[in-house]
Amino acid sequence: MRTDLTFDAPLLELNTFGIQAKARMLLTYDSETALCERLAAIRRQYGNLPMLHIGCGSNLLFLGDYPGIILKSAIKGIRLLSETQDEVLVEVGAGEVCDDFIAYAIQQGWFGMENLSLIPGQVGAAAVQNIGAYGVEVCDVIHEVKGISLEDGSTHLWKRDECGYGYRQSIFKAELRGKYAITYVTFRLSKHFQPKLQYGGLVKAIEERKSLSNSPVSEGWGGSENTLSAMLLRQVIIDIRRAKLPDPKEQGNAGSFFKNPIVTKEKADQLLADYPTMPHYPAGEGKVKLAAGWLIEQAGWKGKSLGPAAVHDRQALVLVNKGGATGADIQKLCEAIRKDVAERFGTLLEPEVNLVNNS
Ligand code: EPU
Repeated sequence: MRTDLTFDAPLLELNTFGIQAKARMLLTYDSETALCERLAAIRRQYGNLPMLHIGCGSNLLFLGDYPGIILKSAIKGIRLLSETQDEVLVEVGAGEVCDDFIAYAIQQGWFGMENLSLIPGQVGAAAVQNIGAYGVEVCDVIHEVKGISLEDGSTHLWKRDECGYGYRQSIFKAELRGKYAITYVTFRLSKHFQPKLQYGGLVKAIEERKSLSNSPVSEGWGGSENTLSAMLLRQVIIDIRRAKLPDPKEQGNAGSFFKNPIVTKEKADQLLADYPTMPHYPAGEGKVKLAAGWLIEQAGWKGKSLGPAAVHDRQALVLVNKGGATGADIQKLCEAIRKDVAERFGTLLEPEVNLVNNS
């Protein structure tokens, strides 16, 4: 049982945007008890400070130094809770790297998360953010989420249906924001590989890869045919992501900066009358999801810079740090894009990235 407490902690390595900021305190913990005990001690000494829980820092933007305590989980472990002929329930420590777990799960013959491959971040953050890609959201495979109250240390379990999941949304980002540290996530994974391939371009990309005789995926893999297919799908997803999305190690970014806006069908029809080729997807009763990347590109922002902040040249939904940008620089670009898109299309884009204020 361990905790690490650092004062005046540099955050550069803790956010993929590569923003130079500091936190008054950074607390890393590797168990629920460690977190509770250390937090209680800090409270006794310093009183109530603001708290922010982070994962790998791959979905946040520090707008300045953080005046409170940043919490980071190092709770590890993958535990098979139960197993039937068809599925497994697996509990995973919130501090595990999500993509490492996905790779491990496929090797075990546990399926359902292949399409989420290579999304950066920890397991706990994935459950908070309801990460999603290529037709799958993590809530599709979540069974239960466990958390600890940051106020009184009590534990709480939420069944999937109690988590308020929606597109990039959960109860942990809404009414419970800042109130709990997620400690474990239990996944319900299938033992039968049922690939989800409805996302445009996936089938073609898989066929192309299969036809490569020297594909590393088809070499030396001793697993079942099912497992081989899931590995192939994972590899294809990884290739697509690498081709479209900038590597944060090379250029600071936090993936999609904005959410894809969900508008009424009437609004979408109005826009389609002017822009018949506009991408759009059904999003439930009377609602349509638009592609923020497309709106931003049409507004002429793709590849454009504003000081050290820029719009990525291959995916307009991603804002990048060209080097030395502050959170305020990125925010300035964000606001300019929002204003422009709102004026042109009458749709206000909402950041997907969590903006962290310095007060
Ligand atoms: N598009 C453009 N220009 C661009 C970018 C996109 O015209 O610069 C068009 C595309 O041609 C396509 C549509 O917009 O018709 C949608 O683009 P894409 O399929 O690349 O996905 P996205 O909507 O831009 C979302 C997620 C990504 C996820 C992909 C794949 C959000 C906010 N983003 O992006 O998630 O990987 O779908 O499922 O929902 C993330 O959350 O950080 C992230 C990368």
